[in-house]
Amino acid sequence: MKVLVIGNGGREHAMAWKISLSKAVEKIYCAPGNGGTSMENKCENVDLDTIEELLLFAKQENIDLTVVGPEVKLVQGIVDVFKKNGLKIFGPSKVAAQLEGSKSFSKDFMKKYGIKTASYEVFQDIEIAKKYAENAEYPLVVKADGLAAGKGVIICESCHDAIKALNEFMIDDVFKGAGKTVVFEEFLDGVEASILSVTDGNVIIPFISAKDHKQVFDKDQGPNTGGMGAIVPNPYCTPEVLKEFHDKILLPTLEGIKTENMDYCGIIFFGIMITKKGTYLLEYNVRMGDPETQAVLPLLISDFTEIMLNAIDGKLKYTKIQWKKESSSCVVLASGGYPGKYETGKTIDIKNAKSKVFVAGATAASGILKTTGGRVIALVNTDKSLEEAIRATYRDIDNVKFDDMYYRRDIGTLYK
Ligand code: AMP
Ligand code: GLY
Repeated sequence: MKVLVIGNGGREHAMAWKISLSKAVEKIYCAPGNGGTSMENKCENVDLDTIEELLLFAKQENIDLTVVGPEVKLVQGIVDVFKKNGLKIFGPSKVAAQLEGSKSFSKDFMKKYGIKTASYEVFQDIEIAKKYAENAEYPLVVKADGLAAGKGVIICESCHDAIKALNEFMIDDVFKGAGKTVVFEEFLDGVEASILSVTDGNVIIPFISAKDHKQVFDKDQGPNTGGMGAIVPNPYCTPEVLKEFHDKILLPTLEGIKTENMDYCGIIFFGIMITKKGTYLLEYNVRMGDPETQAVLPLLISDFTEIMLNAIDGKLKYTKIQWKKESSSCVVLASGGYPGKYETGKTIDIKNAKSKVFVAGATAASGILKTTGGRVIALVNTDKSLEEAIRATYRDIDNVKFDDMYYRRDIGTLYK
């Protein structure tokens, strides 16, 4: 088989690596890929970007399976275009991708199907939103409706904060249209878990649970990032929590997908909040998480490519997904300054690393890796003991060096 993987992050490196382990796969093209995928077994980077370019390439190269990493192309409708052209692609249709692409769409969906979630209001008129903010309870969560590269959620402690957020989203238009509609949400106090899952529209099979570490500094301080590290399984996901997730979130979601005829085949990632009042759905993502993927996939025993093909063929009901009975730890090495401003172009020196090294923001030229992004490398270890997996990852950090490298020292520590 020839597989095309779309994206250029650490998540896509991990996906391409896992796909490369499938016996049926001969060749993987990564579009555009990164310095890690360029050196991965069976992989070759191809410099393609638009849906038209990708479609032409998939047709010309007789690609057997296309896998989409990031959300943007899914929301733009790449799956509908590929399917119309008779190509196999793993991902939700444009309509289904709205579950991530529009927060008001996904909240309305959750409400319609009785999914346990925070209460909310949707606004398109800033004056009405400001009036609401004056009488709201705080903290209040203010969200841009559309895709905002992970920056569209502000937890407001006061009406002053909420009005500032509304002005930025709706008047200054910082998200270029994505903040023209705004969602206000009840603040939920708890701990989060990432449950990546796969669906063919008939069943949803959850993967092993993951815990992301979102804030940039130790002790969960500082601004949110895409994720500074992850552990798997998530220690807060007790059997009780998973049962509540299954009954009150997963099953009604599946019912909604079926009833709405959504044509959903691909990943559905539930971002949940475990609180004293029970487990709530915060959000859907229609793609794998980053860095959760880097920590989750090394524990997968089953053939990842086969799972995706079975989903496309509607055969997930008959598919067993097996996991190693181990834990996994992933620590992200980032450019100093991330998620704010940071420098790029630093040479990365990796010597004798024993961890699985996934490259995120780096390119390779003549075998030399140079930084290009905020999150640069993810180091991953698995072990029977979570503590040992974490220790193994931290032992390896000195084997990776680049100027101004920054990482959290407490991945795996639980603060609540
Ligand atoms: P979202 O993109 O909706 O997942 O929001 C990004 C992050 O903001 C989440 O991972 C949470 O940390 C936080 N967040 C979102 N919604 C809420 C909420 N209702 N209550 C508390 N925190 C939230
Ligand atoms: N790490 C969180 C996400 O990928 O959305």
